[in-house]
Amino acid sequence: MLRVRECVLSNEVITADSVETALWDAIVVPEGIKERLRNQTVLSLLVRPDLPFAMTALHGLCTLYGPPGTGKTTLARGLPAQVARYVGGGAVRRIEINPHGLMSAEHGQSQQRVSELLGEYVPGLASDGVPTVVILDEVESMAVARSAASLAANPADVHRATDAVLTALDLNAAEHPHLFFVATSNFTTALDEAFLSRSDAAILVPLPEPEALRKILASTLLMLADKYPALGELARSSVVERIAEAAHGLDGRRTRKVVFEALAQRLDTVLDPGSLTEDDLATAVHNAVAETGQPEVSRAAR
Ligand SMILES: Nc1ncnc2c1ncn2[C@@H]1O[C@H](COP(=O)(O)OP(=O)(O)OP(=O)(O)O)[C@@H](O)[C@H]1O
Ligand SMILES: [Mg+2]
Repeated sequence: MLRVRECVLSNEVITADSVETALWDAIVVPEGIKERLRNQTVLSLLVRPDLPFAMTALHGLCTLYGPPGTGKTTLARGLPAQVARYVGGGAVRRIEINPHGLMSAEHGQSQQRVSELLGEYVPGLASDGVPTVVILDEVESMAVARSAASLAANPADVHRATDAVLTALDLNAAEHPHLFFVATSNFTTALDEAFLSRSDAAILVPLPEPEALRKILASTLLMLADKYPALGELARSSVVERIAEAAHGLDGRRTRKVVFEALAQRLDTVLDPGSLTEDDLATAVHNAVAETGQPEVSRAAR
């Protein structure tokens, strides 16, 4: 039988000087997105404990949504290290939850499990009062729109589970203002409206623009250049700019992978990555872009 603690992937306290800052820095998005996520979180953790929930209506919940592979989960994971320096004590707990298992619980059990997890278990893990970021990854599996629930195998159960999420969020908002929830989702249309209404901010994390694609390609090459110095030249050349233009439509995850796909095209470059050429990279990008026209292929390849 599934226990709620199996849905908690990790629970750790993170400080501002943690190596975790690399997570946040690895994600290339318009600066406004990171700022908004950080500010919303700091504001919530600093201000909500002293104000009545009935007057702020703030739930301490932010939803990151957007296409697959755009950095949502990584930003959420990197967030605690970014906010740690602004909160008392200089540390933030991060609790990561993957709710998938919950919804496959036996008939009628999901609601109870959700209440137990979000209403009791998680607040219990944070009962020492340390400011805590709780990541609800791929939340659509938990807070599915009740209007769309007729599609689900067990609609009544999904209904009640969504209700349980909302109730737990309301209770935590009032009783545990040191908890801040960050939900991630690939889409918003399937998310329950009442859930979105509880989000203090819903932030779209879009597909990378050409300049972002360039930075992602260049940073992936530069990382490899530590070991294969010849790649440093390619990373810094204007070639990357042209290739980035051609990569339009790729998500961030695929853009990083495409460098390795380029290496894998020839045994020569597998054995000697430093010999990667502009053409190798251009071909891999071309193929990747052609595949994104076939969503089922590109998703399966992730
Ligand atoms: N905007 C980006 N900039 C740089 N790298 C990115 C970006 N987006 C994704 N990546 C790379 O892809 C990896 C996976 O990203 P992540 O899992 O955070 O995406 P996601 O939006 O949560 O995807 P999904 O919706 O499929 O869960 C990251 O570790 C990073 O290497
Ligand atoms: Mg994710």
